[in-house]
Amino acid sequence: MAVQKNKTLGEFIIENQSEFQYSSGELSRLINSIRLAAKVVNHEVNKAGLVDIIGQAGEVNVQGEDQQKLDVFANETFIKTLTNREIVCGIASEEEEDFITIQGRNGQNENKYVVLIDPLDGSSNIDVNVSVGTIFSIYRRVTPAGTPVTLEDFLQPGKRQVAAGYIIYGTSTMIVYTTGHGVNGFTLNPALGTYYLSHPNMCFPKDGKIYSVNEGNYVHFPQGIKDYIKYCQKEEDDRPYTSRYIGSLVSDVHRNMIKGGIYIYPNTSKDPKGKLRLLYECNPMAFLIEQAGGQASDGYRRILDIEPKTLHQRTPFIGGSATMVEKAEYFMGLYPQSEG
Ligand code: AHG
Ligand code: MN
Ligand code: MN
Repeated sequence: MAVQKNKTLGEFIIENQSEFQYSSGELSRLINSIRLAAKVVNHEVNKAGLVDIIGQAGEVNVQGEDQQKLDVFANETFIKTLTNREIVCGIASEEEEDFITIQGRNGQNENKYVVLIDPLDGSSNIDVNVSVGTIFSIYRRVTPAGTPVTLEDFLQPGKRQVAAGYIIYGTSTMIVYTTGHGVNGFTLNPALGTYYLSHPNMCFPKDGKIYSVNEGNYVHFPQGIKDYIKYCQKEEDDRPYTSRYIGSLVSDVHRNMIKGGIYIYPNTSKDPKGKLRLLYECNPMAFLIEQAGGQASDGYRRILDIEPKTLHQRTPFIGGSATMVEKAEYFMGLYPQSEG
């Protein structure tokens, strides 16, 4: 695919529509809606320091974590935008216990896609003016069009995703997405409200020097991860590596994709299945990472091969530059896999 740099996201979507295997305008309309919702959320995130929007909303989400106001706002904005435009038949969100069925205005919804979303990722960073993000994952439904969606439509392995992406609300706002033909990044010009293709064909460097992990949990990590961290810190060849951890999966992976690096959120004795959610955090990030030439694993197997069992399932996650992920898997492989 020849990519030109001065293109807008709108132009890019139209030009690359035919590349998409099902070649319907439906997916393009869907990405367009995400782009629109992202602008609204971006505006609100940018205002966070100015208005009384930061802080707890006083509710606890289905994960048992405190919900902050912008989580609620982002969740509602994405759901409303996708529902009103009737371009998907179902939505699952980190902030909703059950999936949402979109019936359509006259009870008939012929749309073929479901969206799974982490509306605001890295939410503990909001009130300290540090980058947050949105993650989305798109599948074709497996049940017949025109009928209400079922759990089966959402519980598909990551390798069946037709598109995935993230929005990063950082020093600039970007949308980075894939439809299975590489990864492209678009930066918002806030003065015009237009996203421009700024990062065509994003590629994970094969190797890197950055490792990103919450080392505060070190004592609770599996032995293989402890060994890998010691390997990263050893003075040998091009090591020790640099440690960088923002605490926002989107931002940490985005940086590593550009500079080369590995992101790790292992299972711990406190969270024996890991912390991150498979369906709307790990799968979309894994799809992007692989499309950019990197790898994503739970330490023993490819993330995209995992057969999901529940909507809010968690998994250990190791993703980034291929050589680094292979090395981490090597250390994990020295020990038997715990049951979790
Ligand atoms: P969310 O804000 O959607 O709950 O996700 C936070 C996730 C992820 O983005 C981040 O990398 C990780 O949790 C940070 O966890 P720790 O604070 O335990 O390191
Ligand atoms: Mn998250
Ligand atoms: Mn979230």
